[in-house]
Amino acid sequence: MPEQLLLQEAVDKVRPLLGKGKVAGYIPALANVDPNKIGIAITTIDGTTIGAGDYLEPFSIQSISKVFSLTLALNLYTEDEIWNRVGKEPSGHSFNSLVQVELERGKPRNPFINAGALIIADLLQARLGAPKHRMLEVVRQLSQNPIVAYDKVVADSEYQFSARNASIAYLMKSFGNFDGDVDTVLKSYFHYCSLKMNCADLSRAMFYLANRGKTLNGDSLVSPVQTRQLNALLATSGLYDGAGEFAYRVGMPGKSGVGGGIIAVIPGDMSICVWSPELDMNGNSLAGTAMLEHISQQLGRSIF
Ligand code: DON
Repeated sequence: MPEQLLLQEAVDKVRPLLGKGKVAGYIPALANVDPNKIGIAITTIDGTTIGAGDYLEPFSIQSISKVFSLTLALNLYTEDEIWNRVGKEPSGHSFNSLVQVELERGKPRNPFINAGALIIADLLQARLGAPKHRMLEVVRQLSQNPIVAYDKVVADSEYQFSARNASIAYLMKSFGNFDGDVDTVLKSYFHYCSLKMNCADLSRAMFYLANRGKTLNGDSLVSPVQTRQLNALLATSGLYDGAGEFAYRVGMPGKSGVGGGIIAVIPGDMSICVWSPELDMNGNSLAGTAMLEHISQQLGRSIF
């Protein structure tokens, strides 16, 4: 089946799931999003991007930004410098849990839960003169979209409701695993989460994960080995507590965000982004996961 038809079929097939999940409600800026949106885009290994449904409508990428942050950190630090501060294991707890941080003496399980992403944001803050500016520059280059921007309303609103993330950061600081000023790092972290991108932007931006570290522009962003390592971490921890279910149903490395986006990768073949704002119990897009499941079944592709 031609790919364009496959994408349209995926959108049509999951439409009956609308109404079965819940839009993220922890800040008004996210709670007010239209729950009926469904979009999908793929960028195939030849560099072509196609999409269906609401794939050109920008949404809040939220935790998907954690992939960009880790990729930037891999360019600034040695492996040891990163992995001494944050682990590589699935957490088995919700993405914003404090419990493990206390029990495991301030070292988060992985870079994709909030605690781990705050460590990565701390690392970026320490080595980049203007981390927010640099992040924007990188994401614009990767997506080949010069107008990708932060959503100030979302970033400010997250900061207003930052008690839990601030607690996590201070708890890590109490164990000596946080160098920077908590407030400054939180503000950067919330800006990364507030990036507004559409499915086409994100599928293009994640192309390097399908292409042994080489971006659409032909630059080597990370090495082939680092790309494999990033994909391994995404497969084991990218969907939080839903990583096992996602591996079972979809079988691709992936990363979700509470804005309802999920990026996924078929190494050597394509990068994918789906979006639908209603979430399942683990905070992952309900219809988005179903679209990816459909695609993997129709293409007969899984990394397993
Ligand atoms: O820090 C937070 O909790 C949110 N800005 C991001 C959380 C998120 O996207 C988790 N994803 N499923």
